[in-house]
Amino acid sequence: MKTEIFQINDLSTENLRSLEKAAQYIKDGETVVFPTETVYGLGADALDPEAVKKIFEAKGRPNDNPLIVHLNEEAEIEALVSDIPPKARILMEHFWPGPLTMVLNKSALVPDAVTAGLDTVAIRIPDHPVARAFIRMAGCPIAAPSANRSGRPSPTSAGHVLTDLDGLVSAMIISADTEIGLESTVIDMTVEPPMLLRPGDITVCALRDVLGQVIVAPNVTDNVCPEKVASPGMKYRHYSPQGDLIVVKGNKTEIIEKITKALKHSKKARMKIGVLATNETMNCYKEGITISLGSESDPKELAKNLYSRLRTFDDLGVEIIYAEDIPMNNETLALINRLYKAAGYHFI
Ligand code: TXA
Ligand code: MG
Repeated sequence: MKTEIFQINDLSTENLRSLEKAAQYIKDGETVVFPTETVYGLGADALDPEAVKKIFEAKGRPNDNPLIVHLNEEAEIEALVSDIPPKARILMEHFWPGPLTMVLNKSALVPDAVTAGLDTVAIRIPDHPVARAFIRMAGCPIAAPSANRSGRPSPTSAGHVLTDLDGLVSAMIISADTEIGLESTVIDMTVEPPMLLRPGDITVCALRDVLGQVIVAPNVTDNVCPEKVASPGMKYRHYSPQGDLIVVKGNKTEIIEKITKALKHSKKARMKIGVLATNETMNCYKEGITISLGSESDPKELAKNLYSRLRTFDDLGVEIIYAEDIPMNNETLALINRLYKAAGYHFI
């Protein structure tokens, strides 16, 4: 398949014409990659099961994993859900448009292909001018997972989507690097109290500030994936680089010592090794390829860089990556959740 590429950084008149062309692909039941403030998405008409099928094919995604439906305006939600709990309205008011996805009871209009047969649907309004204009022009809700091949780190730049999906989708809207760099916060509003299913830029504390009680799904905070022991394997490995990613735990001195020792071993074994460090620690390592995630004092910067750094290690052919563990708090929860998943919960 030839992928038509549209480079759109702002909503100039000329760009709006290109965006119309990209939106036409959606109207024709085809797939289009588009930027959002979190990560790039791979979109298709959410109400057209045949179009949605093409998303799963392009990604190589198992079809038991449901998709997020993206809207341009709040009013569009009414047709897609059977009810909107008052607390969901509060979240809409505070966080939409933005990196928050709500799981709600679906209406009959939403096809099973989108929800993987669930009675619920995940919905968000992205806070990205190009995404919003694109959805408006398409004239339908757009189902979109992250625009990576299944299992790979989510794409945060044009290069990432080209690497993963060029030739597999009808069109791509290419824009600047994504602002947040991790996927949206997902919260289930069909249960009481609401349950956080996936942490993101909108933090647990921010949600509790407006909702009161919010439960965090157990798998979000588990340091060790319980199933891992019984059935190690691909199922829990997500967002992963091609090399082996290992998270190194301990206090700062211990982490540096452990990595230094591991680097010596790996060097003897003639492995190509990498270290995922921070600005503060990156000069502590004398061997291997050390890359900084950013400054420890700026959790948003660390989050924004995670996926692109993992892909950089791939580009360099690194076989083992040692990642320094990151202290867990409200601001770093999402980052840690993705880092641990990428590592398949492999710790030393
Ligand atoms: O930031 C984002 O959310 C990006 C951009 C493109 O919007 N999208 C994204 O989609 O990350 P994806 O498919 O990679 O992740 C969707 C997440 C999955 O964890 C999925 O299991 C969950 O949302 N999800 C979708 N529908 C659900 C439902 N009905 N109930 C529970 N979880 C659901
Ligand atoms: Mg994804």
